[in-house]
Amino acid sequence: MLKIVLNSILFILISCILTVYCQDQQSSLKALRGDLLKNYDRYSRPVKQASTTINVTFQFGIQQILDLDMTSQTFHVDGNIILTWKDEFLVWDPSKYNGIKKVMFDFHEIWTPDIIPYNTAAGMSTFASDAHSTLSVDYRGRVFALLPSNIVVSCITDLTDYPFDGQTCYLEFGSWVYNVNELNLTKSKSGRLYYEPYVKNSEWNVDKISGYIFTEYTAFSNVSVARIIINVSRRVDIHFYYILMPYLTASLLGLVVFLVPIGSIYRIVFGSLALFILVNLLLFLAYNIGFHALGVPYAVRCISINIMLITISLVVTNMTYQLIMSLMVTCPPLPSCLAHHLTNPILARIFVLKGNLESTELDEEANVNDFSNQQPFQSTSSRAAIREWALLLRLIDRLLFITYIVVIIIYHS
Ligand SMILES: *[C@@H]1O[C@H](CO)[C@@H](O)[C@H](O)[C@H]1NC(C)=O
Ligand SMILES: *[C@@H]1O[C@H](CO)[C@@H](O)[C@H](O)[C@H]1NC(C)=O
Ligand SMILES: *[C@@H]1O[C@H](CO)[C@@H](O)[C@H](O)[C@H]1NC(C)=O
Ligand SMILES: *[C@@H]1O[C@H](CO)[C@@H](O)[C@H](O)[C@H]1NC(C)=O
Repeated sequence: MLKIVLNSILFILISCILTVYCQDQQSSLKALRGDLLKNYDRYSRPVKQASTTINVTFQFGIQQILDLDMTSQTFHVDGNIILTWKDEFLVWDPSKYNGIKKVMFDFHEIWTPDIIPYNTAAGMSTFASDAHSTLSVDYRGRVFALLPSNIVVSCITDLTDYPFDGQTCYLEFGSWVYNVNELNLTKSKSGRLYYEPYVKNSEWNVDKISGYIFTEYTAFSNVSVARIIINVSRRVDIHFYYILMPYLTASLLGLVVFLVPIGSIYRIVFGSLALFILVNLLLFLAYNIGFHALGVPYAVRCISINIMLITISLVVTNMTYQLIMSLMVTCPPLPSCLAHHLTNPILARIFVLKGNLESTELDEEANVNDFSNQQPFQSTSSRAAIREWALLLRLIDRLLFITYIVVIIIYHS
């Protein structure tokens, strides 16, 4: 019984002491905040002498690169801006305030440096105005601010090498109103200006981040600027499946067009299929990267030249085929000078004219037979003329093939 009473008394005693202590702590904090904020002007620089420079250490912890948008040329980064500075009016003696060494303030209660991204592409919506961040101040007046920020800056993209391109984007931070003599950005003690991205981006690899602080001399004021340079390169593995593989398929079809006998319906089928794939790729690219970038993208150049060459070769061989077929009905001999050149062995060897003629001219032969059926006579001279016309057709086709290969090689190198 006595034990229980003693225990209870002890418990009540401890509770009382704790309550008193806590209330004491609470009232000291209240008093401290009241004392510090009394006559505090949050709109002027917290220095006792106007000539004093406030050194603000700047760090940018990149959380994630959210996007690099080709069409709007903007770079979207999520991160934290870490600032520390000394506030000469937020200094106290901890022994007078129950040993309190650190106080939290709301962003709107005390002066904060007006550091903003200079090259912002999203107007003046900065982290500073809408951040509900708390600032911690120690008794020597050092203020620590961690400002979550979602920054959109403009980034001029050069897509000449797309999709094998790399881009360089800048983030520039500085004070909006204070010049370098009033507010100077400095590196923190650790010497770090930035922290690498915490979360990886699915489209871009971060190659390198660098940064430095410099003074920008302009006509109106000299300002201290922190510049962070981010080199990113496109992840090619995604584009391999989206662009490269369909493109290679279409190019292969483009080549196959020349291997199919002239006049065969498969020429048109394969050619159209290749054109269909290429036009779709072009639309996808236009939608994806837009028209605003510097330089014509490599992929777009390759695709459009392929479209042009395949179309030309389809049209030219089919037109000449039709023309020659219609000529065959009357069977005029080839102009003698042309015929003479066509039978030239060197030419024949270069363009593989003769060797292939007998074996692959089946299509031609079939047509010849058609004509011979229509026409009761089939003299050897008209047969020779037909052969000459077929040779000419083949020569035109070979020339187109060689042009296709040469242009493709030039454009892809
Ligand atoms: C700011 O840094 C400069 C050196 O860069 C130093 O001379 C100056 O005293 C510092 N100002 C304050 C208020 O600490
Ligand atoms: C600003 O700080 C840099 C160091 O970061 C120092 O070299 C420079 O002299 C300072 N400028 C002024 C005007 O205090
Ligand atoms: C900027 O700095 C230069 C040299 O340090 C000085 O001559 C000039 O007056 C300054 N400009 C302003 C607007 O303070
Ligand atoms: C980053 O990009 C800039 C500008 O294009 C270039 O000068 C620099 O060499 C690049 N750095 C790396 C590591 O690629």
